[in-house]
Amino acid sequence: MVSMLNMEKKWVFPLVISSLVCTILVVTCFNMGLVSSVNKINSIFSIFPAHISMDQRKPGYAESKIDVGPSPPPPAGPALPRFAYLVSGSKGDLEKLWRTLHALYHPRNQYVVHLDLKAPTEERLTLASRISNHTIFSKVGNVYMITKANMVTYRGPTMVANTLHACAIHLNRSKDWDWFINLSASDYPLVTQDDLIYAFSDLNRNLNFIEHTSQLGWKADKRAMPLIIDPGLYMSTKSDIFWTSQKRTLPTAFKLFTGSAWTVLSHSFVEFCVMGWDNLPRTLLMYYTNFLSSPEGYFQTVVCNAPEFAKTVVNHDLHYISWDNPPKQHPHVLTLSDSDKMVQSNAAFARKFNQDDPVLDKIDKDLLGREKGSFTPGAWCSGKPKCSEVGDLNKIKPGPGAQRLHQLIAKLSAKAILSRDQCK
Ligand SMILES: *[C@@H]1O[C@H](CO)[C@@H](O)[C@H](O)[C@H]1NC(C)=O
Ligand SMILES: *[C@@H]1O[C@H](CO)[C@@H](O)[C@H](O)[C@H]1NC(C)=O
Ligand SMILES: *[C@@H]1O[C@H](CO)[C@@H](O)[C@H](O)[C@H]1NC(C)=O
Repeated sequence: MVSMLNMEKKWVFPLVISSLVCTILVVTCFNMGLVSSVNKINSIFSIFPAHISMDQRKPGYAESKIDVGPSPPPPAGPALPRFAYLVSGSKGDLEKLWRTLHALYHPRNQYVVHLDLKAPTEERLTLASRISNHTIFSKVGNVYMITKANMVTYRGPTMVANTLHACAIHLNRSKDWDWFINLSASDYPLVTQDDLIYAFSDLNRNLNFIEHTSQLGWKADKRAMPLIIDPGLYMSTKSDIFWTSQKRTLPTAFKLFTGSAWTVLSHSFVEFCVMGWDNLPRTLLMYYTNFLSSPEGYFQTVVCNAPEFAKTVVNHDLHYISWDNPPKQHPHVLTLSDSDKMVQSNAAFARKFNQDDPVLDKIDKDLLGREKGSFTPGAWCSGKPKCSEVGDLNKIKPGPGAQRLHQLIAKLSAKAILSRDQCK
């Protein structure tokens, strides 16, 4: 008995020591490996900058505790991003579009506006003359109207064609922009352009904000299999899409994705789609010609089937959109009772709104600081009345909206770094 106990003790002591040493060794190796591989992943993709300068001002942010690198200088003029917008509307949307354009305006950005062929000629002429007669618009020259209007069917491929048309115009008018944002006259910003510019200034310029999923669900049967024809492609008067009796199978040459029709696209991705050397964007454009609600799938499917772009996707559309439950064709129209939820979403834009709804006045007053009929004020504004002249384009004055948006983007970027929800 005694000898057995002794023997056990003799065994136990070296065993404990050696396993302790082993554990320490393994933990150390693992730690070093893990840290260096995380660094490697970060440096390979370098999609997200290590520091976001907001952290300097807001010590409460969680990232500031992780961030141990030297603080970057605040963004300087040329480092500030520029946005290229499309704001489009249809019959009766003139006043909505005019207001949204004013709320979104910043002389650093560029704007394409479009009233489709369903809008009466008079409405389009009024918009054109307002733009050419506008002191700031004509001086800065960054608002362009598509006067040769397109026929657009909302659920049809003509909508995607119209969006790509605006992309092509932006590419041709200037090389100096970073992101393309596609909005309608019923959208409205929840942050100022100074806020948006600030929140995007430290982001990798290759990021694409495209909400997407490959879980087609009911859409596999109701969207991907039926074949539709959009007469808007070849008729000069508007008529609705129609269905063919034949159905098609799901594609095997590429994987289908679906999501939000509202996106924020990088310059490089827009270039790839409009004049890319790769045939994918063209092939998919032709595939989507017969697809119901193609605006909800085209950019999603292109981005996720192009490996060099798939890793640049952030799975969000930066919009606050309130769908009825179960979702109907159109989202719920936002009113004053949605104000809190809208702000709490931290989103950059919301939709959809009725013309001059009181909630828009509340957004102007509380979030944008915008006076009726004027621009959303920013650091560029000078002259009297305010914003009647263009001051320094390279100055911005971010407000509380910049913090809200930054919070959302930081949360999304953490997910995207781990590619947890990219093209899944
Ligand atoms: C153009 O602007 C002037 C003054 O700014 C105004 O009097 C005139 O009515 C405008 N014309 C149009 C067509 O809007
Ligand atoms: C825009 O198009 C015109 C005419 O095709 C061309 O001459 C010009 O170089 C283009 N501009 C840019 C920036 O690509
Ligand atoms: C672009 O914006 C319009 C808003 O007019 C929207 O209806 C459309 O579906 C959007 N997306 C695409 C991919 O065209």
